Amino acid sequence: MPRPFIRVAIVAAALAIIAAGAALWTFFNVPTPQVTSSGTASVGGPFTLVDQKGRTVTDEAFRGRWMLVFFGFTHCPDVCPTALNDMSAVLTELGASADKIQPIFITVDPERDTVEAMSQYVANFDPRIVALTGTPEQVAQAAKAYRVYYKKVPQGDDYTMDHTGILYLMDPQGRFMTHFTPNTPPADMAARIRKLLG
Ligand code: NI
Repeated sequence: MPRPFIRVAIVAAALAIIAAGAALWTFFNVPTPQVTSSGTASVGGPFTLVDQKGRTVTDEAFRGRWMLVFFGFTHCPDVCPTALNDMSAVLTELGASADKIQPIFITVDPERDTVEAMSQYVANFDPRIVALTGTPEQVAQAAKAYRVYYKKVPQGDDYTMDHTGILYLMDPQGRFMTHFTPNTPPADMAARIRKLLG
């Protein structure tokens, strides 16, 4: 081949390689569909429980409102009463915006936390808090949905419960939005919630 043709051939080959590279780059950089199962979808889900008035309640009853959910038990010496006090303080702090939120307390100790026990216990806190109990299976299902750990621990002739002490904020569609660790100051929680409520 005469020299000019070789040069043209080399340039053509180079362009072909660049084009192929660009095609490959484009192919591998096509945005993949957003998978929502990473993190956010893993907390929350369906539950069927009984409220402090003895009515059967499912998670769907709360669609359209944000849910502030806490799992605990009425015999808890400190973490639970503190969390429920904080929950009450958050509602007060939020003022009228609190109407958008359904605060929910779910027991992890259905054996002792009957409807009556739950009713008496939550009377110590904000009256807007719904207190839910159920059969051990119903409670286990709810705890599993929220990835809540709980375990009976013998204590003398009695027992106590080990349990996750986190507050969960779910959006009006029941999707996990954020969580609060125990002892987060209520004012901080209220500020974060207010931002999310928009
Ligand atoms: Ni507790």
